Amino acid sequence: MAKGVALVTGGGRRIGAQIVRSFIAEGWYVLVHVRSSVKEAQTLLEETQNTESGSPSGEVIVADLSTDEGLSHLIASTRRVIADRNQTGLGVLVHNASIYSSNDFEAVGLEELRLNTRIHMEVPFLLTQALTAELKQASGCVIGMIDTSLGRSWSGLAHYTSTKAGLRQLMMNLAGDLAPEIRVNCVAPGAIMAAAWEAEHFASVLEKVPLGRGGSPDDVSKAVSFLVNSEYLSGQVISVDGGWSVAP
Ligand SMILES: NC(=O)c1ccc[n+]([C@@H]2O[C@H](COP(=O)([O-])OP(=O)(O)OC[C@H]3O[C@@H](n4cnc5c(N)ncnc54)[C@H](OP(=O)(O)O)[C@@H]3O)[C@@H](O)[C@H]2O)c1
Repeated sequence: MAKGVALVTGGGRRIGAQIVRSFIAEGWYVLVHVRSSVKEAQTLLEETQNTESGSPSGEVIVADLSTDEGLSHLIASTRRVIADRNQTGLGVLVHNASIYSSNDFEAVGLEELRLNTRIHMEVPFLLTQALTAELKQASGCVIGMIDTSLGRSWSGLAHYTSTKAGLRQLMMNLAGDLAPEIRVNCVAPGAIMAAAWEAEHFASVLEKVPLGRGGSPDDVSKAVSFLVNSEYLSGQVISVDGGWSVAP
């Protein structure tokens, strides 16, 4: 018998996939939202299927969250699964979907800025709002995946860091607005998995990490699970960055 229903946006690969794996291992029935990583998500669910009962460990929902139709589809699909499985609401919602690109401040166009705002702020706002009743039913929790950029200047990343800061503040605000039924927290990964465009300078980043190594997706999913399972924690941010954010 599953623990309840958990939804992870952008859960088909990389860090999101590890969050999905750890939730399944804990007994959650996981809705793996993807935009393009459909095969990866299907394989992940096949690998984690309950071998004894043969029952699925979750299902894949495909939606491009840059569109209103995609967001509506994700909301409707989540509600349908909860109803079909006779579940009492939504236990966990992880806002993990993200975009990450570097561009000079003066070159960032309106489209790029709006997409960052859409994925990092507008979608988490509207998705949480639409699923608030379901989260309340389950005394659920929400986790925003942010990063360690807060309060510092990062060259070529103003469009990314400012919208992630918006997500952080949204989550902190909701920790008050949605209490006492729903807990809301953030996980802020540091240098975990390089994007393709930053692979070359990733080694120099790692030199600055006090713990002397990059983090793994497992390091991040452990913090996510800790927040999900810590029933008196709300309005918190856990940095999973090997001490990077406090390094001199
Ligand atoms: N990697 C790191 O070291 C690091 C560091 C700091 C913070 N973080 C944060 O931790 C989280 C996970 O990191 P990550 O590097 O694994 O994330 P990622 O690969 O950059 O993105 C996660 C997923 O977001 C989905 N996505 C992008 N645009 C979308 C759209 N328009 N509609 C729907 N989904 C969309 C993609 O799904 P598809 O693959 O299905 O297209 C992608 O797999 C992110 O929130 C990230 O900001 C990561």
